[in-house]
Amino acid sequence: MEQELIKKTEAFVKQELQHAEGGHDWFHIERVYKNSLLIAKTENVNHLIVALSALLHDIADSKFHDGNESIGPEKAENFLRTLHLDQTYIDHIVQIIKNISFKGGNFQPDFHSAELEVVQDADRLDAIGAIGIARTFNYGGFKNRKIYDPEVKPQLNMTKEAYKKSEAPTINHFYEKLLLLKDRMNTETGKKLAQKRHDFMVDYLNQFYSEWNGTV
Ligand code: ADP
Ligand code: NI
Repeated sequence: MEQELIKKTEAFVKQELQHAEGGHDWFHIERVYKNSLLIAKTENVNHLIVALSALLHDIADSKFHDGNESIGPEKAENFLRTLHLDQTYIDHIVQIIKNISFKGGNFQPDFHSAELEVVQDADRLDAIGAIGIARTFNYGGFKNRKIYDPEVKPQLNMTKEAYKKSEAPTINHFYEKLLLLKDRMNTETGKKLAQKRHDFMVDYLNQFYSEWNGTV
């Protein structure tokens, strides 16, 4: 029964994200789904809620919908109704989708659950390390941003609105988000996996500046 619900959700998400940007496509969802299941093994969580939230968490990201943050949760809720899922499950999954995002990290989330913590860690893992680097430059290219501009300094402490509006060079995103994630992981498994990916990004940035400055 649960497998049936998961299969139906996978098919819906694949269809919806057919033309998505390369860092927010079905393969991102699949990685987050797999990492969610891995992290969930050592957490006391409802596995169906974790699975469906991971699959639906980027069903309509506000970045690709003129900043509109309600389309994603609404789309997910409408779909979940077609599965005839218990309303308490639907409400919980919708809350996870509303609260998973980083958006500068300088605001108080209004919902907490162990299931949110698992899926959020899995989503954050996909934002760092080798995959994180690839996704970030892909997004920068998609938005026609500069790779790097030494004159434009990273902005920490941005409000959610300023973070969403930022048009800064892509390297800045490492300092504004990616390098901050390792200390914001919720679960022990998440923390362990994040450290290795974090170290890889630090090495990458050192090499980047060496090449930029012509010192290697
Ligand atoms: P979250 O869902 O945690 O808020 P986002 O959807 O904002 O995260 O970002 C997901 C990924 O998209 C980032 O980890 C990054 O790879 C890419 N991305 C988002 N904003 C930017 C940006 N301003 N510059 C470069 N990449 C970005
Ligand atoms: Ni995501």
